[in-house]
Amino acid sequence: MKWIKPNTITGSVAQGKKYFRRKDIEDKIWYELLQNNSVLFLAPRRVGKSSIVSFMAENANEGFICKYEVIQSIDSVQEFFKRTIKMIDDSLSAYGKSKEWFLTWWKSWTIKTIGKDKVEIGDKDIDYRSTFFDLLDHLKNKDVKVVLFLDEFPDVVLNVSNKEGEKNAALLLDDVRTICHEKKFKETFVMVLLGSVGLTHIVKRITGRIDKINHLHTEHLPPLTNIQSRSFLDFLLEGATMQVNMELKEYILKKIGNYIPYYIQLLIEECDEILIEEERPILTKKNVNQAYKQLLKKNEKFEDWDNRLSKYFGEIYPFLKKVLSKCAGQNKISLQEIFDIAVKYELELQWKAHIDDILVADGYIFEDKSNFYFVSPLLRDWWQARNPQMN
Ligand SMILES: Nc1ncnc2c1ncn2[C@@H]1O[C@H](COP(=O)(O)OP(=O)(O)OP(=O)(O)O)[C@@H](O)[C@H]1O
Ligand SMILES: [Mg+2]
Repeated sequence: MKWIKPNTITGSVAQGKKYFRRKDIEDKIWYELLQNNSVLFLAPRRVGKSSIVSFMAENANEGFICKYEVIQSIDSVQEFFKRTIKMIDDSLSAYGKSKEWFLTWWKSWTIKTIGKDKVEIGDKDIDYRSTFFDLLDHLKNKDVKVVLFLDEFPDVVLNVSNKEGEKNAALLLDDVRTICHEKKFKETFVMVLLGSVGLTHIVKRITGRIDKINHLHTEHLPPLTNIQSRSFLDFLLEGATMQVNMELKEYILKKIGNYIPYYIQLLIEECDEILIEEERPILTKKNVNQAYKQLLKKNEKFEDWDNRLSKYFGEIYPFLKKVLSKCAGQNKISLQEIFDIAVKYELELQWKAHIDDILVADGYIFEDKSNFYFVSPLLRDWWQARNPQMN
């Protein structure tokens, strides 16, 4: 029998026929862009930001010229503006918008006439920041509206701060504010800045204040709704050899707990592998339980949840980790218990803000009547397996 796998993809951005449309979110972002507002698009890792935005860039609303790129590795202000100029250039080419003016304009910045000769100015001597602002001025008369989707933007702020100092990172944020705020720019140029870590935390840490970014329209990407999660399962299973009855679909979703597409996909793949091995198409409850257990052992699928806490919040990481480990071990943690841990780590002044702004905002835990619980049973079970609580 020829085995047809479910329509899953795990790891890279879901594109083409692997992309399950999230039109409600796309529309919200387009709505802001139509009002000339730049957008800060935030969600915990793996919820599906990049997939949505790369679809939007490929299927732009009329009148928009779009370009999507992951800019994670940029670590200087000059590099940031150099890349965004290149992206604008690429997007103009892709949409066949007259490139001649662009070339002429670019030459005016990069070629000097010395005597009779024309000499190219070296990369280092070009002030990409000024060039960028000048380009925006030029765009105004070109009857275009450019949207750049910049993925992993918070990492750029962090990188610049590490390499060029906090002052430069703050200046970059000021520039972003100017670009997004000033009417003369907004009408022809908008940005969607994506990040998996609340930019707020990074900005607060670097500049001590968040007013540098709170002018941006923020969209938080939630997990799938109840109804969407059912359609998503059908989307993955359509045409597949694996057969899953209604009751079992509910069981799978209950196991996942919160409907992050990535985790639904992982569990479905795991189930499929079991059936392939056993050479039969009908999934059973026992198979789902077995698949869940196997999935928990695949640490590389979950480790990022732990790693990004140490990467971004190094100083308070031991505190955050202790709170999560206790919460996972007991299935919940009370406010009082968190406070007691905070006292041990000498964090009694800021502890609740850390919990709210990091662990709750980034989708680890939620609060209900003075107790906190893991948002996802899957993540809770993995966390517990990885960080067992010992007396
Ligand atoms: N709309 C979708 N359709 C199908 N699969 C999706 C969708 N959104 C997310 N996924 C699943 O989640 C995985 C991660 O998606 P994506 O890279 O878009 O998320 P992200 O929020 O950008 O993650 P990261 O923070 O790691 O960059 C995909 O490989 C896929 O398994
Ligand atoms: Mg992404």
